[in-house]
Amino acid sequence: MRNVLVIGATGSQAEFRKHPDLYHIRAITRDPSKPAARELAARGVEVQHADLEDGREKQSAAAEIEQGKAIADAAAATTTLQHFVWSTLPDPVALSGGQFLNVHHWKSKSLITAYIKAEKPGLWAKTTTILFPNYFENTLTNPGRYLPAAKDDKGIYTLKFPHSPNTVLPNVAIADTGKLVHMVVEAGSTYFTKTIAFWAQALSEAEKLAELGNYYNVPTRYHASSAREFQQLLMSRDGMSEDIALDFTEQLLIFERCGNVFARDQFVQAKEVGQRFSSPPNVNR
Ligand SMILES: NC(=O)c1ccc[n+]([C@@H]2O[C@H](COP(=O)([O-])OP(=O)(O)OC[C@H]3O[C@@H](n4cnc5c(N)ncnc54)[C@H](OP(=O)(O)O)[C@@H]3O)[C@@H](O)[C@H]2O)c1
Repeated sequence: MRNVLVIGATGSQAEFRKHPDLYHIRAITRDPSKPAARELAARGVEVQHADLEDGREKQSAAAEIEQGKAIADAAAATTTLQHFVWSTLPDPVALSGGQFLNVHHWKSKSLITAYIKAEKPGLWAKTTTILFPNYFENTLTNPGRYLPAAKDDKGIYTLKFPHSPNTVLPNVAIADTGKLVHMVVEAGSTYFTKTIAFWAQALSEAEKLAELGNYYNVPTRYHASSAREFQQLLMSRDGMSEDIALDFTEQLLIFERCGNVFARDQFVQAKEVGQRFSSPPNVNR
């Protein structure tokens, strides 16, 4: 049985954790006593304590780069490592032709990818990079931001979002992460050095809202906010700092100005990975 180390094993992207009968999984968490970690242990996952922030600065783009490089350095130093699967985001500056310079939480991740490629060629040779899109589950984990919060005095639910009604975002059910990672691992060296764009459906927020309204039989209204209006909303409603609200807003504007950048042919499309398998791998045991 192969050994798989999962960083962020208690989080949304870690569905791999649910299949301990396929691999020997070692899961990293800052708190082995938390319920999600105990659930993993009960499923036969080996749970280990580690904190990527240990001794490092917390919660900034610079800290994220430092943590990512530390992961890459450790992976490169592991001589028995067969495959490195790197969850990341694309370079917002390159993708937007220099239009958006403030999407730091994408840029920092893309700089780590660039570091692996330039400084750790041995690791890069066995790395598969996966780009993550909007999670459908965000509406469940963060309903205040992704769903209309409350109805107005006419009973209408309004969603404010900085997209024209036809602008689409790539979405995926994040619970499908394990299926993709399993296929990538089973494909051996096929996806070494490749970048996979992991998305299932391109949908506009206006379309999602209308579908939800129909489903629940409630009136809805989509309001296309200006960038500034949306940034202010993130600050007042969600308590974001000005910089983080700008970062969040600009990531959405990439899709408004540049289209569904995840669909570009510079990336392997996750759907193509699925098509390589005549029957989906059995990961639901
Ligand atoms: N939400 C989206 O739509 C979306 C889309 C694309 C990309 N992303 C990116 O995905 C990443 C994860 O976001 P998420 O929403 O999936 O988060 P999440 O569900 O809260 O998961 C975060 C995971 O990271 C672990 N973690 C956090 N800090 C750590 C540290 N210092 N040391 C070790 N482990 C640590 C947590 O483990 P413990 O708490 O158990 O330690 C947890 O398992 C973010 O970088 C985000 O930018 C998100």
